[in-house]
Amino acid sequence: MKTMLQPLQTTLEPHPDTALVSDFLDALSRLASSVVLVTCRVDGMAWGMTVTAFCSISTEPPTVLVSLGTETAAARAIAGTDRFGVSILAQEQEPLAVHASRPGVAKYLEEFLDPRATRSGSPVVADALSHLDCDVIDTIQVADHVLFLGRVRTARSSNAETSPLLYHRRRFRRLDGV
Ligand SMILES: Cc1cc2nc3c(=O)[nH]c(=O)nc-3n(C[C@H](O)[C@H](O)[C@H](O)COP(=O)(O)O)c2cc1C
Repeated sequence: MKTMLQPLQTTLEPHPDTALVSDFLDALSRLASSVVLVTCRVDGMAWGMTVTAFCSISTEPPTVLVSLGTETAAARAIAGTDRFGVSILAQEQEPLAVHASRPGVAKYLEEFLDPRATRSGSPVVADALSHLDCDVIDTIQVADHVLFLGRVRTARSSNAETSPLLYHRRRFRRLDGV
């Protein structure tokens, strides 16, 4: 299955019953989220994008959802391959999260990859807390984002006692508050 992404509509009229974008962003900035890296291959090379819009949808069968800007390189690549990975980042991985969130720049992952991972699945970054390798089973376009629903082929977790990387009030944070 190859996913067809619709061209982005750039002339969306603001709706009178819709919150101001700035109010919406302020409200959402109070939500503390775990930071994940959505991984894929761009021109055959490992690529990652920093994401907080990730959630578990179902356990039987294991299914997750990520929401990516339609115009991002990752969304385009995943639409072409119907495969993506989700690496849940550890608190020490803020530099990787910063690298993979810079708009418009190459977000190749070569220097961050787990050397033990096979090249057949989605790219796996070293020292992540866990990694899910997913097949796209459905996509839904909403406003300027595309939701990818993924069936989880493999799920692996680290045994390290490391805490997750968080994002709250527009800053990366650690569970211990640093
Ligand atoms: C903490 C954090 C969370 C983010 N979460 C998302 C997200 O859930 N979905 C999304 O589309 N972009 C998210 N972004 C922004 C993307 O990482 C960024 O726009 C993207 O890497 C740009 O890719 P591009 O260069 O291919 O356009 C987030 C950025 C940060 C710093």
